[in-house]
Amino acid sequence: MSPLKSRKERPWWRDAVTYQIYPRSYADSNGDGIGDVEGIRSRLPYLKQLGIDAIWISPWYPSPQHDHGYDVADYMDIEPDYGTLAQAETLIKEANDLGIKLIVDIVPNHTSSDHKWFQAALKAGPGSPERDRYMFRDGKGPNGDLPPNNWEAVFGGCAWERVIEADGKPGQWYLHLFAVEQPDLNWENPEVVAHLEDVLKFWLDRGVAGFRIDVAHGMFKEAGLPDIRKDPAASMLGTEHKPFWDQEGVHDIYRSWRKILDSYPGDRMAVAEAWVSPSERIARYVRSDELQNSFNFEMLTTLWDAKEIKTKINNSIDALEEVGAPTSWVFNNHDVVRSVDRLDLGLTNHGDTTLSRQGDPKKLNIARGTLRARSAALMTLALPGGTYLYQGEELAVPEVRDIPEDRLTDPRWKMSGFSDRGRDGCRVPMPWTSNPAGAFGFSTNASLKPEQAWLPQSSWWGTYAVDTQDGVEGSTLSMYRKALAIRKGEEGLGDGPMEWIEAGKDVVAFERPGDFACYINFGAPIELPSNSQVLVSSGPITGHTLPTDTAVWVRLVS
Ligand code: GLC
Ligand code: CA
Repeated sequence: MSPLKSRKERPWWRDAVTYQIYPRSYADSNGDGIGDVEGIRSRLPYLKQLGIDAIWISPWYPSPQHDHGYDVADYMDIEPDYGTLAQAETLIKEANDLGIKLIVDIVPNHTSSDHKWFQAALKAGPGSPERDRYMFRDGKGPNGDLPPNNWEAVFGGCAWERVIEADGKPGQWYLHLFAVEQPDLNWENPEVVAHLEDVLKFWLDRGVAGFRIDVAHGMFKEAGLPDIRKDPAASMLGTEHKPFWDQEGVHDIYRSWRKILDSYPGDRMAVAEAWVSPSERIARYVRSDELQNSFNFEMLTTLWDAKEIKTKINNSIDALEEVGAPTSWVFNNHDVVRSVDRLDLGLTNHGDTTLSRQGDPKKLNIARGTLRARSAALMTLALPGGTYLYQGEELAVPEVRDIPEDRLTDPRWKMSGFSDRGRDGCRVPMPWTSNPAGAFGFSTNASLKPEQAWLPQSSWWGTYAVDTQDGVEGSTLSMYRKALAIRKGEEGLGDGPMEWIEAGKDVVAFERPGDFACYINFGAPIELPSNSQVLVSSGPITGHTLPTDTAVWVRLVS
């Protein structure tokens, strides 16, 4: 274990609690039913009170919103629906003044097809420098009618799209590993490299603490763009090595980005969204001259099982320990089914957003799922390393499964031939008030109805609202606030050593410095040590008995 350094001595990103905001769905300040920058700003006091260290904002740049901002049309401005650059600058400053760091989302693998570079590439024609910024290729077959290889888009369908050339005839194909409107950039092109460096500096100059790097394992493609194996076992997001994921070239980029980050004062950082495995592959992104954090997605793919969770914790910590990096735990984000549902139904994959694999909602036991999600949160917040939370998890909202089909917006829905409902169910606008006016307080426009928010809110959504949980003993919000406050006060939580406690096969238990311990019970009720003093728990506890599916933080008093 790395030597324990005090909070003041260690960089903040080693154990920060970062709260992800999906800007479209957080708070709407101008009444149009779409979240915006001023809306986020109006909620800074809430975030301060919650006790997080940093916020990460999903892409807020001008975008035609085919993938809700992950299709960027201009990396150096703000989406007009969300506000202005000046408002973003004020938000960054006010957050910083409150002691909250702000991280922006950088999307380097692809741009929007509306980006001026892509528009220029379409006009300029084959062989031009404009096309070289993207992955244009001639098709196969006698007339180039067939795609250049057999790659599939992550959202479904072919990863290649054919364009119409100036002569009005079908011509070259371009690669899009995601939506058709998200053409992949060519990272062998020096202009691409230089532009993204400018983008980093642009935001660093404006006071952001760092970046979340979208599809950080993409960008480089294997020379020759070889075909991939085609069988169900070799799915696009599966673990088998692919010629478009986790290529060596990405590490050169991160080494140069690290130099840029280090050239600014105040421990600027970046976190990789790299869906790679095993953990040793993740560790390569956080070597000492590369990025500071890389999401640990192990907990998104876990069953609610003590043995499996223990193994995953050990593997993750050990692999990153090798390179001296902290683990960055993730239990929720805008791409996966909410933890309440996942941990109850036993959904285990990044691909679990498909309709067939979303599990049977009739089998969902919300009370049990909620308890498990809360226990999982307490567990992560007690583990060494940092934690990334996703808006709404502090309210324990479940996945929303009753969005009418004609209101689904995720590109997955269309690209899967309307078989995969996609990720909208975890992106429904935040419920702030139990009163439905203003879409449960999401909007300043009191006459906006819940179904009029950009993604409709269901009638039951208000039962999770902030105002029903605020100050209520035993609510999920109170549990998060309490845990985050304790975490701040405990020098030993966050970065530093941990030790397993043997407490039975259905229990995950570990000790942290300061006589602090965390117990999570996956089985029948157990007795906690008689010298344990309860600090916070995920559910009701009487005496020293820890019920099923419940987690607790205790101080072991001597
Ligand atoms: C990442 C994002 C996801 C997006 C995709 C394409 O996985 O988290 O939301 O759709 O990249 O940019
Ligand atoms: Ca708005």
